[in-house]
Amino acid sequence: MGSGKSRPQSNVLIVDDVPDFLKETSAVLRPHFGVTVCSSPLRGLRLIKQGGIDLLITTLVMRELDGLEVIRRVRGSGNALPIIMVTGFGNENTAIEATRVGATDYLTKPVEPEELIARARRALTYADVQEEVDEPLVLSQDTTMLEVIEVCRRVARSPSRVLILGETGTGKELFARMLHARSQRAREPFVDVNCAAIPPNLLESELFGHERGAFTGATERRVGRFEEAGEGTLFLDEIGELGIAMQSKLLRVLQTGDFSRVGGSRNLRSQARVIAATNRDLSQEVQAGRFRADLYYRLNVVTLEVPPLRQRFGDIPILVRHFSRKFAQPGHEPLGFSSEAMQRLCAYGWPGNVRELEHLIERLSVLVTRGEVRLSDLPAHFQGVTEAAPVAPAPTNRPYHEALREFQRTYFQNLIAAAHGNLAAAARQAGMDRSQFFRKVQSLHLITGS
Ligand SMILES: Nc1ncnc2c1ncn2[C@@H]1O[C@H](COP(=O)(O)OP(=O)(O)OP(=O)(O)O)[C@@H](O)[C@H]1O
Ligand SMILES: [Mg+2]
Repeated sequence: MGSGKSRPQSNVLIVDDVPDFLKETSAVLRPHFGVTVCSSPLRGLRLIKQGGIDLLITTLVMRELDGLEVIRRVRGSGNALPIIMVTGFGNENTAIEATRVGATDYLTKPVEPEELIARARRALTYADVQEEVDEPLVLSQDTTMLEVIEVCRRVARSPSRVLILGETGTGKELFARMLHARSQRAREPFVDVNCAAIPPNLLESELFGHERGAFTGATERRVGRFEEAGEGTLFLDEIGELGIAMQSKLLRVLQTGDFSRVGGSRNLRSQARVIAATNRDLSQEVQAGRFRADLYYRLNVVTLEVPPLRQRFGDIPILVRHFSRKFAQPGHEPLGFSSEAMQRLCAYGWPGNVRELEHLIERLSVLVTRGEVRLSDLPAHFQGVTEAAPVAPAPTNRPYHEALREFQRTYFQNLIAAAHGNLAAAARQAGMDRSQFFRKVQSLHLITGS
């Protein structure tokens, strides 16, 4: 990887209102990239809108508009431009917030020239890959999710098998498609098989194909999914539902690459990369003797664990906006949400995760013609979620510290939801300074920090 190749034409825009910083960084970058400097963030945003910028480097503290707001506005306009944030105070919390609002990377001052060049190249490589293929967009501003996305990007180009774990509807298939889109196999087929949806007696022929006359009803030769995938990606969804007999057959292909069609004697070779997913705890299935340990280890070279939506409610406003745009009715603006309604959405547990949210927004987009969704527009099971539910009636049957923590979680959760995920605004509302607010929210595991 990273042989230092960067297209000579990559254009970097540096935004800061301190002339010295602009002078120093542009001197460092100019031998490697096209460089534009801009001392006004507002003018910078206009330049970006005009197009032709491949990477934005912005600092945090600027009089006209702070760096976080710059990132928010770029992302708010749906622009996926890579952004590097440079913070002046070695402030980890701001860095976390920068990534939450959509920065690709961050650096702290003083910036080492070599480091700056390397990071700029890295950010641009991501962008290159993204341009090459039509990649599914995994939206998130949650630190744990961003780490999963980062791992996904890194392993995509390697031939390693990947096991994707996560509850139903968390986006496992989306990750599988992203792995494929970012791999060297992107132009080869992506074939997905839902192991739970196919009757066990048909699964073998589904995966490996069959010869004519292999069994009653096999009137034609059929090519299986392994063959169909060729040198592409075979996505085995719901792998945890596989019966023991099929597990052995699958193990053989994964060990040797060899398989044969049902009723056939010829050995075929699979070159496909296998990605598997399940919403079960596979290691537990192994312990219980329901899943072969050797198969588990063959599949589980790299694990991606997609967190449930209730553990990253900061993503809810982003996903709501995304789906509101997606399902906007012809001739209508995307739905808006009252703060109260948004608050309820963020406080809800989402057992069906992102898919449940997606379906809800789709339904509301058809039903709510007023433009803004109010609390009363939400289905009945949302009406039951009240802000005070976990604390009132005061849970006197629990230790004080436990009850207090529960209250704090609800309080901060609602606060962040009401601020539509904007942590700085939530901190202001709480009357706390930002770093104090971050520490608190992190200690409650409402967001994770590094
Ligand atoms: N982070 C995300 N950003 C945008 N869309 C998402 C995100 N996560 C999930 N989705 C969307 O939510 C829906 C459900 O995702 P997906 O099918 O990938 O989930 P899954 O984990 O495979 O679910 P299941 O376990 O039920 O098969 C899809 O329409 C997907 O595009
Ligand atoms: Mg799925």
